[in-house]
Amino acid sequence: MQRVDNILNNNIYNQCMAQIEKAEEKRRFCLHDLEHSLAVARIAYIINLEEGLGFDKECIYAMALLHDIGRCEEYENGTPHHMAGSRIAEKILRASSFTEEEIYFITQAIESHKIISDDADKADLRYILYRADKLSRNCFECKMYDECYWDEEKKNQTVQM
Ligand SMILES: [Fe+2]
Repeated sequence: MQRVDNILNNNIYNQCMAQIEKAEEKRRFCLHDLEHSLAVARIAYIINLEEGLGFDKECIYAMALLHDIGRCEEYENGTPHHMAGSRIAEKILRASSFTEEEIYFITQAIESHKIISDDADKADLRYILYRADKLSRNCFECKMYDECYWDEEKKNQTVQM
């Protein structure tokens, strides 16, 4: 996946990921590292296949790799990460040879992934990201389970994907 590799080699991407890693050095709750992004990518792609949605594999991976990239700004100055992430992702996607239409849909999904409502269209790229992001967390084995702010029904009690 050449365009996904372009993202992984992008300077802005790597600077932001390094900033996030530093800011989360002592974090005891879920991290927002490459491992998380790749788990989201794979789960989103499973949803895409199981539900026959037909989204492009590179777009799904790009969306997942970039969905939390805005946390670098959130940690620095408090800008909500879904807003900052959409703006930063746009630059990275353009430099990684994604088309204007793809950039539009991917950045829309990143911008909405924190606030999408539960009755949203399940075949929408935004909702796939929202679901994959939640499903990626192994709450059932988490040491911070009781202290986590997630509602009880959102926490994954078992492996689902
Ligand atoms: Fe996430």
